[in-house]
Amino acid sequence: MKSKELKIFAVFGNPIAHSLSPLMHLAALDRMGIPARYVPFCVTDLQKAVEGIRGLNIAGVSITLPFKSSILPYLDETDEKARQMGAVNTVWNDQGVLKGYNTDWLGFVLSLKEHLDIQGKRFAVIGAGGAARAAVFGLIQEGGRPFILNRTPEKAQALAQAFGCPFFPWSQITEIEAEVLVNTTPVGMSPQREASPFPKELLRRFPWVVDIIYNPLKTRLLREAEESGCRTIDGLGMFVHQGAEQLKIWTGMEPPRPFMGEVVRNHLLSLEEMNPPREEDQTL
Ligand code: ATR
Repeated sequence: MKSKELKIFAVFGNPIAHSLSPLMHLAALDRMGIPARYVPFCVTDLQKAVEGIRGLNIAGVSITLPFKSSILPYLDETDEKARQMGAVNTVWNDQGVLKGYNTDWLGFVLSLKEHLDIQGKRFAVIGAGGAARAAVFGLIQEGGRPFILNRTPEKAQALAQAFGCPFFPWSQITEIEAEVLVNTTPVGMSPQREASPFPKELLRRFPWVVDIIYNPLKTRLLREAEESGCRTIDGLGMFVHQGAEQLKIWTGMEPPRPFMGEVVRNHLLSLEEMNPPREEDQTL
């Protein structure tokens, strides 16, 4: 994509006001020399919104909650991996043909691979929603050995069955062993920063603790993991890589990943300055 014609990109979600995708994608597109707009849409009618991609000649769309699964029937083609996952987070308008992809799992895998080898390791994945699905799918693709831990055992079982991996009821958390603990739940996300999805006293048994939350960058889980001697990975890398993979699909060019990370990190740090953690959050 080297034309100087203005390209329109978008993100569809509901709610959408707090998405950092416009900030990150616009900065990247500018750096890549692509004249573009990236517009957040709070979608109320998904089918009509998808028709609008064609009607408005939007070049590419990021799909976020709650539409990642419900969008599938409205697309012309869906990539094999997105179909296996039952979730699309990226639409590419390829000359009027709407093609669906999923870059969430790849974002997760690429972020982890900056720090560790996935192959053969055991991963305790907390949660059984869409984010857990992306994480488990990615881990299996890379030869990892995930198992699922979730508050609602039925959901853990359903996800475990879908991917052929084990699951454990929450009552057994004192017995689980893994090289890596991964939080995929929203527990600890701003503004509920004082919450953690896992008891601190059990953290030290995991060499690595990963949180896919990136706001705040250092969740209570990661802070307590550091205090327990674990190595940690925050959610920024996953966010950056899933977005970079979207840009790659839309433009055919390699996006400036470290720069995208800097842009989002600086924004998050400026939010922290405006809204510092309360004293009581620190001591919990
Ligand atoms: P997403 O699709 O974004 O991953 P989701 O479908 O709402 O979001 O899934 C969130 C996951 O986090 C769920 O597995 C949920 O547990 P339940 O299956 O028991 O609902 C988990 N989760 C959310 N809030 C939680 C909490 N306060 N404590 C423990 N788990 C929680």
